[in-house]
Formats: sequence, structure tokens, C-alpha cells
Amino acid sequence: MIRLGVNIDHVATLRQARYRNHTAASAPEPDPLLAARICMGAGAHSLTVHLREDRRHIQDEDVRRIAREFSDRLNLEMAATPPMVDLALRLRPSEVCLVPENRAEVTTEGGLDVAGQEKTLLPVVQKLREAGILVSLFIDPDPRQVAASASVRAPVIELHTGKFADASPENHKTELARLEKAAQQAHQLGLQVNAGHGLRLANLPGLLRVPHLHTLNIGHSLVSHALSVGLERSVRDFLEAIAAS
Ligand code: PXP
Repeated sequence: MIRLGVNIDHVATLRQARYRNHTAASAPEPDPLLAARICMGAGAHSLTVHLREDRRHIQDEDVRRIAREFSDRLNLEMAATPPMVDLALRLRPSEVCLVPENRAEVTTEGGLDVAGQEKTLLPVVQKLREAGILVSLFIDPDPRQVAASASVRAPVIELHTGKFADASPENHKTELARLEKAAQQAHQLGLQVNAGHGLRLANLPGLLRVPHLHTLNIGHSLVSHALSVGLERSVRDFLEAIAAS
């Protein structure tokens, strides 16, 4: 069975939109830890948090609280920088996914250029692995990047599915074929294959044709879907509270 990892940064993004400069003691909402508990209680297999260098979404304290409860099922996405590696070694999540980071981007736009930075990544991967952390590299479905991921001894790759998700009907087949080939190559090299970015209920059936998928990490659309399926209940709860007064 393919596993579902929920990226709960989007819950923190909503909170930060309202409470970024909030210092009062009242509890800012929504709380990513509460969201994490709901996701895991509903059967999700793991949680992903992307602690960005500029901390614009999830905060260190969120990650610490989530790690306290779910460190055995926590995938920490981060840049391969010394401060982030130190933080991962302190928090000890079960998994670290190394991603490229560009401060101006809204979300992670492209895969990590592993082929172009093998020398830098090799010791980072080694250090994290020695700490018992499963290391994953977020890469484009490109044969060079898959081969380089094996060269730096990462046991897992996460294929960036953004181009597949955004493909026009004419390009859909090409993008799917790239993912299929990359997954095949990675599997032959002994790598675990995860995938994520831009996945929605509507494009999942197409993606599931990719072989050897282990975990799908899904964030934005899953949280958006929660609004559609949960908004009605929320309105009813508020109406009830008003009627009770
Ligand atoms: N995997 C990685 C490595 C990501 O950076 C993201 C984006 O936060 C996701 C998965 C989830 O993407 P989305 O929010 O589009 O589902």
C-alpha cells in the first residue's frame, strides 16, 4: 500500500497570515500540532514539516512540539545548511528531506541539484544517516539527478511532481513518462521512491501509474479539501453557539 504523508505547513501558513506579530498569551490558531494529531488519527502514515530558513510558515516551537509526539513518523524538510543539519540532529525526526530553498519562492519550485553539488551533499547525507535519520532528496525526475542521489548514498528520493501536476493535456503523458522512468531507475539503484508537490484528488489516479511509489507527501490540496469538507460543519457549530446565547 502506498503511504500518505501529510504536509502540515499549510496549517501554519494560515496561522502566520493572522498572527505573525502576535505576542499576546491567547492561543493563535490554527495549531499545527492539533492538525498533526487529527491527520495521524485519521490514518495518515507520516507528517511533513518544512522549516524554512526565514521561518515564514512553521516555527521552531511547532516542530519541537510535533517532534515530541511524532518523531518516529516525522519528515523534516530543510535546506542542506549547517544550522539546519544541527537542528535535525537535535530534533531527531525519523526522516529528513533535503530541498532547495529560495527565499522569494512561494513554495519549493524545483528539485535539488544533487548532480551539481555531490561534494557538498555527500557529508551531509552521511552525518544525518549516522544519526539514524532516513535521508531523502527532493529531485526532479531527471536521470542525472537520480544517479547522483545514489552516488551521495541517499536511501530515498522524493520525485518532484509539480510539472506533472501543472502539465497541459498535451504534456501530461510526457511528464508522467519522466516520473515513470525516474522511479524505475531509482528502484533499480535500490532507492526508495517517494513523490510529492501539487498532488490533488483529481491527478492522483494518473500519478498512481508510476511504479515503486512508497510515500506520497501532500499538503496544499489536502488542507484546501479540508475546508470544503469541513466548512459546513464549522458554520453549523457557530450558528449553534449563537443560538445558545
Ligand atoms: N514535498 C515537498 C518536498 C515539498 O516541498 C512540498 C511543498 O510543500 C510538498 C511535498 C507538498 O506539496 P503540495 O503542498 O503542493 O501538496
